[in-house]
Amino acid sequence: MLVELIHQQHLELRELFIRHQEALLQGKFEEAEEYLENFEVFLKAHMQIEENYLFPEFAKIKQTSKWNVSLYEKEHDKINQLYNNISKDLTWLSEQELTESQLRRNIIALLDKEKTLKGLNEHHEEREEEAMLKELDEQLDQRQLKELKLDIKLTWAEVTASVTQTTAY
Ligand SMILES: [Fe+2]
Ligand SMILES: [Fe+2]
Repeated sequence: MLVELIHQQHLELRELFIRHQEALLQGKFEEAEEYLENFEVFLKAHMQIEENYLFPEFAKIKQTSKWNVSLYEKEHDKINQLYNNISKDLTWLSEQELTESQLRRNIIALLDKEKTLKGLNEHHEEREEEAMLKELDEQLDQRQLKELKLDIKLTWAEVTASVTQTTAY
């Protein structure tokens, strides 16, 4: 089922983000930036997969939930904006000469911002899994589902292979 395949990607994204947060919490900025960059590669690829393979199919079927494609697209834009914000803050923070206390306070402020991103992302993922993907699984025929799953798996495998060994994968 599509929902299982995409859920797996959502879990992988969460894992990458929490690794970034673990490093951030310890003030290991280089590591935190590396994980965040990795997260970005996977996040963008994940969104591309949804936008290229799933949204067009979803636009064609009879939507039984109150959410249509434009809502999912808007959420992708919002997630991207929040991500860019966080990424800039982290770069700024890693370049500052701060006292231990200032450093800790800035880390807390960044983690607070990240909480907003995590919350939005989690809501978005839940909506995808409980509405869009469920509806696609119910309404597309077996052949269409099989083709979509294959395309999605291949694209994800390419992204995973493109990320260097030194990091998460
Ligand atoms: Fe999405
Ligand atoms: Fe998603």
